[in-house]
Formats: sequence, C-alpha cells, structure tokens
Amino acid sequence: MQSYIIEGGKRLEGEIEVSGSKNASLPILASTILNPGTTKLYNVPEIRDTKITQEILKFLGCKVKKHKGKVEVNSKDVTKREIPEHLMHQMRSTVILAGAILGRFKEVTFSYPGGCDIGARPIDLHLKSFEKLGINIIENAGFIICKCDKIIGANIDLDFPSVGATENIILASVYAEGETNITNAAMEPEILDLANCLNKMGAKIEGAGTSNIKITGIKKLKDISYNIMPDRIEAGSFLCMVAATGGKVKLNNVITENISPVLTKLEEAGCRIEKEKNSIYLEAPKKLKAVDIKTMPYPGFPTDMQSVFASMLTIAKGTSVIVENIFENRYKFLTELRKMGAKITIEGKTAIIKGIRKLTGAKVVSTDLRGGAALVVAGLAAKGKTEITNIEYILRGYEGLDKKLRKLGASISIKEGE
Ligand code: UD1
Repeated sequence: MQSYIIEGGKRLEGEIEVSGSKNASLPILASTILNPGTTKLYNVPEIRDTKITQEILKFLGCKVKKHKGKVEVNSKDVTKREIPEHLMHQMRSTVILAGAILGRFKEVTFSYPGGCDIGARPIDLHLKSFEKLGINIIENAGFIICKCDKIIGANIDLDFPSVGATENIILASVYAEGETNITNAAMEPEILDLANCLNKMGAKIEGAGTSNIKITGIKKLKDISYNIMPDRIEAGSFLCMVAATGGKVKLNNVITENISPVLTKLEEAGCRIEKEKNSIYLEAPKKLKAVDIKTMPYPGFPTDMQSVFASMLTIAKGTSVIVENIFENRYKFLTELRKMGAKITIEGKTAIIKGIRKLTGAKVVSTDLRGGAALVVAGLAAKGKTEITNIEYILRGYEGLDKKLRKLGASISIKEGE
C-alpha cells in the first residue's frame, strides 16, 4: 500500500506535457489482437491499466515488447480464447478485449469485469449487442461464454451511448460479414481514436465521433504504427489542480477541442484561458467562483472530470451544485473531503458544495481513480499536510503524477506502506 504525502498551500506554476490517453490506449491495445501481425503503438501511458492489458495480451499468446511509451504487439500466435479471471477483476475495460478476441476467433470466455466501485456498471449492452451480431452467449458459474460460426453485420441501436459497448461492437464487427450500423453510439474522442487506428490497419469504419457509426466488414488487416491521442482527463485534472492553488500552467500535448466543456466551466469559475492548437495556458483568479455542473455523455461535461472539478469548487466563493448523471456511486470522495473541512451535502445524484476559505490537511483514503485525484487537488490547495492512502487507484490512470506536480513546484512524495 502506497500513500501520497502532500504539503499543501504552494501555488503551482510551470509547463508540463500531458501523457497519452488511458481510455484510448485500452481499446487500441485490444485492437492489436485483430491484426495477426505487428502493431506498433506510441504514446501509451505507463500506468497500471495499460500494464494489466499488456499482461492479458501476453497470456493470450501475443508477443509484447515495451520501451517507455512505445508498445509493440505481435498477435500472430494467439492461442488462448479466454480472459483470465484474476486479471478480468482488476479493471472494467478488460471487457473490451472480449470484442477483439471474438472479432478474430469467433469465440471467447470471460467473467464479469472489476474496476473502480463507482456504480453498478453492468455489461448488458455489450452482451445484447454481441447477440445482435449473431453470437451465442451462455452464462455458466460466473463465466460468460460467447461463440458463433461467423459474425454477421447488424443494426444496433444502443439504449444508452455506452463508450465500452460502442468500442466492443466496433472491435467485434471489423471482420463481420456485411455492414454493422450503430445508432445512439457514444461520441467520445477515444472512440474516434480507436476507429482511426483500425482504419489505418485497413478496417472500414465511418462516422466514429458521431452517434451513427457504420462498420463494413473486411477480410484482412495490415501492420501499422499509431500514435495514441493525448489524455483529455489528465489534462483537465492538471488544470483543476493548478487552479485550486491559484497558480498558472501551460499544458502541452493536448487537443483543446476535446476538453472544451471543461475549459468553459473553468472560465466560468474565473480562470483565464488561452488556447493554442496543441497547448492550453491557464491562469487562476485570486478567488475561484462557484459553478454548477451536470455530467453528460460527450460532448457534455465528462463524468471523469466531476470529482476533480468538485474538489476544486470546495474553496470557491459561493455554492456549487453538481449533478452526476452517468455513475450512481461517484461521490465517495466527498465524504473524505469533509475530513478536510469541505461543506458538502449529497442528495441522490446531486451534491451541493458550499465554498469555504481554506481546506485543512488530513489523512484521507482514495476510493477510486478520479476520486483519488480529487483528493490530490484538495491536498495541494489545503493548509498543512495531507496523507492520501490507497493511491494504487490513482496510479491506475495518471502517469508520473507526483513527478509532474513536483515540476510545477508542489511538495508531494510517495510513502511506501507496510
Ligand atoms: C468509459 C471510460 C470511463 C468513463 C465512462 C463514461 C474507458 C476505459 N472508461 O467507461 O472512464 O467514466 O466511459 O464516460 O474508456 N452501462 C449499462 N450497461 C452496459 C454498459 C454501460 O447500463 O452494458 C451504463 C453504466 O453503468 C454507466 C453508463 O452506462 O452508468 C456509462 O457507462 P459506459 O459509457 O459504458 O462507461 P465505460 O465504457 O465503462
């Protein structure tokens, strides 16, 4: 067990590079299974979730070579058709590998995925979509066994624009017979990145990034190299961390357009923002102002930014109202923030935050990835020392977070636990 120790109250200032996107890397790593040759990926963040995905690829029989952000996967000799239970339980996006294995081999066995405890997180939309593609599904003793002779293109109208289900349908139908049309597809930029990567391999995917996606089945993919897009959630998290300390920062390696709903809210909170094509400059006001937030599927305000933004608002002037519409259990970190003096009431999916002058350092527990990052925001802004335990959650999604924050002048270190 590791902890972050933060001496808060330092104004953060400087320039940092944003890493490659976690949520694009995971489906793109899965997509390498579809190409029975070599795929070279660049800008893959070195975080726990990408490491687990690479472990699963190796288990399946892929040869994986890794050097810093470059990951080379050769999927010629994939022998297994199952995702091991112990790795499946470590994160939710392992379910994405099912679509890729099915797409290539027409069979896969897996169990229910794990991941952050931020809500029920069912996979019914994934399974319903697989069935539409002609795949038979049997559930037995906690395992899900999917099989078919061939995958047949279909029209799939998603009840909700699920990111993972959209990605799984794309992966499963790249080699399908005929055409697959997804309506009410998720429009997140990471889906466009996955489609761009697969199209470079030779797939035929049109409309990714919109709510209507068409996949025309093809017979063969080819070897490519591909650069993963920057992480928009990491970028947004840094902006909130700096804003909470009253500082200023230049972020490089960002796609500004992808985080515009977050930038709009930061401006509403009083921050000065300058955008360039691949960089953002933010300067915080003397005192942040309260703002209201409702999380929505893209292009709405991202649920993954809700926690860090809410944490920043605990010291804004006025009362902020947050509505979490995507995950029902994403307010656990608020209970921890109360230990630091934050004034928060929670009613169902609404949280009301009454801004206070200053948070006070305390010992707090990280309960999920983004909730953990929210505690870092609070620790950086607070007076005195904050210890955040269980940072394993945070390390799942942020590459070298402590190192990058130290570059901006923060006092943050990792303490090894017993
Ligand atoms: C992805 C992101 C995650 C982000 C989320 C929403 C990755 C690796 N993770 O997660 O960081 O917070 O999108 O932007 O990209 N749902 C169902 N049935 C299903 C699938 C989903 O009811 O079969 C529900 C979920 O419980 C949740 C909502 O749909 O309430 C959104 O989930 P989804 O978009 O699927 O999120 P993930 O793909 O798990």
